[in-house]
Amino acid sequence: MHQNGDFIALNDVLTSPDTATDLQKQGPVHRATLPNGVPVWLVVGYDEAIAALNDDRLSAAAMLASGGLDGGKLNPDMRDALLKSLTNSDPPDHTRLRRLVSKAFTARRVEAMRPWISQMIDELIDGFAQHDQVDLMAEFAAPLPILVISELLGIPEADRPRVRAWSRTIISGFGSPDFAVQDATAFVEYLRGLIAQRRDDPDVALISALIRARDESDALSANELTATIFLMIVAGHDTTLSLIGNGVHLLMKKPDRAARLREDPSLLPAAIEEFLRLESPVPVANFRAAVGSFDIGGTHISAGDLVAISLQAANRDDSQFADPSRFDPARRKGRHLAFGHGTHYCLGAPLARLEGELAIGALLKRFPDLRLAVPAAELTWSQAPFIHRLDRLPLLLS
Ligand code: HEM
Repeated sequence: MHQNGDFIALNDVLTSPDTATDLQKQGPVHRATLPNGVPVWLVVGYDEAIAALNDDRLSAAAMLASGGLDGGKLNPDMRDALLKSLTNSDPPDHTRLRRLVSKAFTARRVEAMRPWISQMIDELIDGFAQHDQVDLMAEFAAPLPILVISELLGIPEADRPRVRAWSRTIISGFGSPDFAVQDATAFVEYLRGLIAQRRDDPDVALISALIRARDESDALSANELTATIFLMIVAGHDTTLSLIGNGVHLLMKKPDRAARLREDPSLLPAAIEEFLRLESPVPVANFRAAVGSFDIGGTHISAGDLVAISLQAANRDDSQFADPSRFDPARRKGRHLAFGHGTHYCLGAPLARLEGELAIGALLKRFPDLRLAVPAAELTWSQAPFIHRLDRLPLLLS
């Protein structure tokens, strides 16, 4: 049984991988609170994280129904329209919804995106290549994933900046007393408008395909349709932004790492895995709610309890990763949990890997003298709870 009566502020752990790792040394499961005061169990051990991610008594659908994400501020229709997607569902709904979108992310489909993603990367780089300096986060890492996911979904170009702003504000408010009800409502209304437009005038992108699945075979409800689009937007952009930023940061901190990759670009995929492990973009899996009573790592979980699983801490667990704070691309591939594990394993992992590889590969190739423009100690990490990324990454280009 868990002996520690103290509650930890969950956001303090989510915004600091070192805090998560320190906590792990004290035990695999801890008591924490969300910013809105709701208690949550925090799993930080690797084995316990795997067990929890595999446990169907931890339910994503029950979490949604609890109202815990929006602090009970959304009415049930609005909550479903925003959140009733695969990530907040259990099988069999999860299986049905995942099947509908997974076709867009098969290895073959993703590989076919390589030329147009490369083209977008080249165009973004051309936009700043003549400058002395660039903030890589603002001018490259942020715009690329939103461009890619917007193309994939069919989000009109003019709408992309506000779509991005909405999704960021909504995500940051999860579990907080300041949940952005107005932004959430405005976003759902925007999506409903876009769906109406695409229904009259379909294109070849994913939103039109999902509308067809709804209209022709009733494969998903109207709210599941909007929630699935919202999920794709949020899942696909800040995460990949963070992979690119965190990866380049790890290379710039120790220039010999970048030199090695320039010499032998075939090492890049393994380096990407190590970026994902060491500076995991998504600190914590989506919260789950217990639908039974059971133990995790010797801690008793009761029905209705909320559980947060720290992927970041699991990825730095020395029982799995020797000398975990060392950057070592030679580690065996695939054991980190940066993309989750089990039923809800990231659907976009092949796309994220491809974007990361092409983006970082192109930067290394185009800028042989790429380096930090400020001392590493001056770089700051975002205090947004659900994404681990730098605020800015100023780089000298030549
Ligand atoms: C480096 C970038 C990315 C990281 C680190 C990442 C991480 C994750 C994680 C940890 C989960 C599982 C959450 C859980 O178990 O609760 C997840 C799920 C998901 N991700 Fe990603 N992701 C990334 C990029 C993407 C991209 C580009 C897409 C494409 C649109 C995407 C789509 C999804 C979807 C749809 C799910 C839900 C899967 C399900 O519930 O079955 N992700 N992602």
